[in-house]
Amino acid sequence: MKKAYIKGVGFYMPEKILTNKDLEKMVDTSDEWITSRSGIKERHIAAPQETTSTLGARAAKLAIENAHLKPKDIDLIITATISPDMVFPCTAALIADILDIRHAGVFDLEAACSGFIYGLSLANQYIKTGEYKNVLVVGSETLSRITDWQDRSTCVLFGEGAGAAVVSESHTESEIMATCLGGDGVYRDLLYMPAGGSLYPATEETVKKRMHYIKMEGNATFKVAVTKLSEASLNVLKKANLKKSDVDLLIPHQANIRIIKMVQKNLDLPDDKVLVNIHKYGNTSAATVPIALAEAVQEHKIKRGDILVFAAFGGGMTWASAAVKW
Ligand code: UT7
Repeated sequence: MKKAYIKGVGFYMPEKILTNKDLEKMVDTSDEWITSRSGIKERHIAAPQETTSTLGARAAKLAIENAHLKPKDIDLIITATISPDMVFPCTAALIADILDIRHAGVFDLEAACSGFIYGLSLANQYIKTGEYKNVLVVGSETLSRITDWQDRSTCVLFGEGAGAAVVSESHTESEIMATCLGGDGVYRDLLYMPAGGSLYPATEETVKKRMHYIKMEGNATFKVAVTKLSEASLNVLKKANLKKSDVDLLIPHQANIRIIKMVQKNLDLPDDKVLVNIHKYGNTSAATVPIALAEAVQEHKIKRGDILVFAAFGGGMTWASAAVKW
């Protein structure tokens, strides 16, 4: 078996910033409520002409450049998203077109907020078996397009952006050491978008009932999230033969600062070993982990040989984790 590692990363945040103060003018909420309940202060919102594929392509271009590769070197593109440009074709195909990649395999992966780590896990397998040389994994979201801007319990939480990673064969100690994936459809009603699929195809009624927007039972989701994120993180450490004290940086899904703090406690990690950027970006679903990773690399917060743990959970519910030696 070969070894795989993350060769290059990139991220892109749309220019427009929507602050909690801005939201106070849109729904019955307050900066104090949003900050204290979620940790979010502001989020980025895509311009009207931007889509999940254009955001994803920008992040992907940077990841390919940072990996010192050319678009033609990419063998496979996996895009993790719950807000694709269209139901089909897949957003990965649209990203390939923007980047002028004409020969690669392309598909989308829908595991909600855990999608990027699911993609990383797949890329790891493709590289380890020698099937492909360079796999591009993109997490990209334009959640404002499926957000109900009349629902204060959800609209204050989400943001938009994209992150990407190129996974390639490793000839050094850098490697994706282990990944763990999980999910349970019993929790499907906690976080979902009811209409637009085969169960409730679009009709006048589905539009009238606001069924084409994200629905969430925040409190119940919170509880499952803390349990599953902690379990996933501990499981991947065990699988990679690591101890809690080996972790140099935990990059958790950015859904709520209180969830992150509880997971941090369960892993006995000090503040400087847990990456938090939720105050700036909100919850960008499949994009939170690759955005946080790429930003940490850009800010030199990660050095060669560091042990990183990625962990996420989301609609499904799904959960996933990865242990990476940088
Ligand atoms: O990425 C995928 C996974 N998503 C998550 O992990 C999200 C998990 N859940 C959460 O982060 C939290 O549950 C929320 C931030 C969504 C909500 O926090 P909470 O402490 O669970 O609040 P709550 O839902 O229990 O609501 C408390 C109160 C309610 O009022 P009453 O019934 O107590 O009078 C809500 O109506 O806060 C009210 N409320 C708001 N008030 C001001 C709900 N949304 C808002 C709002 N502004 N935006």
